[in-house]
Amino acid sequence: PKKVILDCDPGHDDAFAMFVAHGHPALEVVAVTTVCGNQTVERVTRNALGVGELAGMHAVRFAQGAARPLIKPHQAAPEIHGDSGLDGPSLPQTSISLDPRSAAHLIVDLVMASEPGEITLVATAALTNLALALRLEPRIAERVAEVAIMGGAIGQGNVTASAEFNIYVDPHAARIVFEAPWKIVMMGLDVSHQALATPAVLDRLTSLSSPVGDFCVELLDYFGAQYLQHQGFESPPVHDLCPVIYLIDPTVFNLVRAPVAVDTTSELTMGRTVVDLRLPAAPDCRHQVATGLDHSRFFDIVVESIGRLG
Ligand code: BDR
Ligand code: CA
Repeated sequence: PKKVILDCDPGHDDAFAMFVAHGHPALEVVAVTTVCGNQTVERVTRNALGVGELAGMHAVRFAQGAARPLIKPHQAAPEIHGDSGLDGPSLPQTSISLDPRSAAHLIVDLVMASEPGEITLVATAALTNLALALRLEPRIAERVAEVAIMGGAIGQGNVTASAEFNIYVDPHAARIVFEAPWKIVMMGLDVSHQALATPAVLDRLTSLSSPVGDFCVELLDYFGAQYLQHQGFESPPVHDLCPVIYLIDPTVFNLVRAPVAVDTTSELTMGRTVVDLRLPAAPDCRHQVATGLDHSRFFDIVVESIGRLG
């Protein structure tokens, strides 16, 4: 299996990313690291440990990361994820303890101790920890296989007209990450808004009749109600599944090679990912951007992986 470090801010859709990454045999989650985003880093870390407990991730390292973005003040998303960051279901007590290292230090240690190309990074939150890790040890850029990111958009944003939440929370970190010399696959709102947990998906999760399946249904009940109320979605977009499904089976997505730059200076477009789709991309372009996905194959993998967790 591919070894992955999942950097996240659970977060309803981050919890799904954890379940599927841990449940699918193509991936081996070696660490889960947390960063402030949907809620404070303390709250999302608590959520990550509870979700880890439920998924049986006792052999996985967990580390807490940045409590604030590099430059901007932290802005959470309680209207989507609630005060806890994971409102809806109740979390079990956890027996998993945190690694004493910060997320950035753990990422550096794991990547530098691995063979080149052995570890893949998955980011489903603000990119603060990845930027800090790059500053601590720039050589991680040549050692990781690739970085799969849920963030940004070719088109419309969600937190502002221009910017997607994960990039907007810490645009300066995102800029460092997109400018680093490593391979990046960006899964933005253009595809994550197609990753909709429809009533049929809910039925399939209910039919699993398992503790994790039931937990997922409760997550989606809350998440779906918030998305309907605040953004008018009939079914909620489970954004953070996108980079995980990509790593399991990239053929589920349509991908284009195109350079991505992050705006950190303009008033109106702060945090926008500017994707240059003018063809052809330079031969040394390290960025790929997803433009579409196959909904039925996507959710087959999701349900199958969650089904394996019992
Ligand atoms: C992203 O923002 C967060 O609220 C979600 O967890 C997801 O990572 C979507 O814009
Ligand atoms: Ca997230």
